[in-house]
Amino acid sequence: MKRRKILVGNWKCHKSFDEAITLIAEIVANVPLELDRTVVLCPPFPYLAEAVRRTRESPVKIGAQNVWQEDSGAFTGEVSAPMLASLGVEYAIVGHSERRQFFLESDECLARKVARALAWNLTPIFCLGERWEDREAGQTLAVVQRQFQAVFALSAETTTSLVIAYEPVWAIGTGRNATPEQAEEVHAILRGLAMERWGSAVGEAIRILYGGSVKASNIDTLMAMPNLDGALIGGASLSAAEFLRIVHFQG
Ligand code: 13P
Repeated sequence: MKRRKILVGNWKCHKSFDEAITLIAEIVANVPLELDRTVVLCPPFPYLAEAVRRTRESPVKIGAQNVWQEDSGAFTGEVSAPMLASLGVEYAIVGHSERRQFFLESDECLARKVARALAWNLTPIFCLGERWEDREAGQTLAVVQRQFQAVFALSAETTTSLVIAYEPVWAIGTGRNATPEQAEEVHAILRGLAMERWGSAVGEAIRILYGGSVKASNIDTLMAMPNLDGALIGGASLSAAEFLRIVHFQG
């Protein structure tokens, strides 16, 4: 089955407003309407409204880096799914390893975030991945399976727009990407789990992105793997030239 590839730039906590606007303009100018892949930019929260405005005439989509697990209420500092939807934001990263590590986000809270995002027609990009010590202990499969099972309460119908991002923690920001074969092994396992849980049609359709030191120099070989449906890009998405080379990968 041919799954449309998705290239997502996760800017994390980088860029001033003016720098962000410049970066968006450079990317928009170089993503043609007829491109056969989806491009998503995830700038920091305060820039989202302007980012949506500046990408409206282009195929570039805008995503948030996080979303709160309730729709509204006394949750100082948080941003909810209906707020993002009301801005025209279409994607939300959920459960990035930095959120799990520094903000102690649990499987349970992430399941709620994914459900709220889906309820408001935001496409969740649900991140999971093992630490190096897990891999060394032969626990990669057990860890990603546990993390993935957090969203198994979702029904098959609601899952159609769910996007998974496999991001091994040891590959994030280290310059040391998983090899295409290492990534493919985990992606194939994740797809198998999705098929078991939601049936073969959903399992075949679900997009599984790879993240962790993706660069212009390794994107082609990663995207050649049958179960890699795109990439979640951190550092390399902060430069228009590098990100655009990734977006226009050969394949
Ligand atoms: P790097 O591309 O900087 O390794 O970051 C990956 C990542 O965390 C994307 O969400």
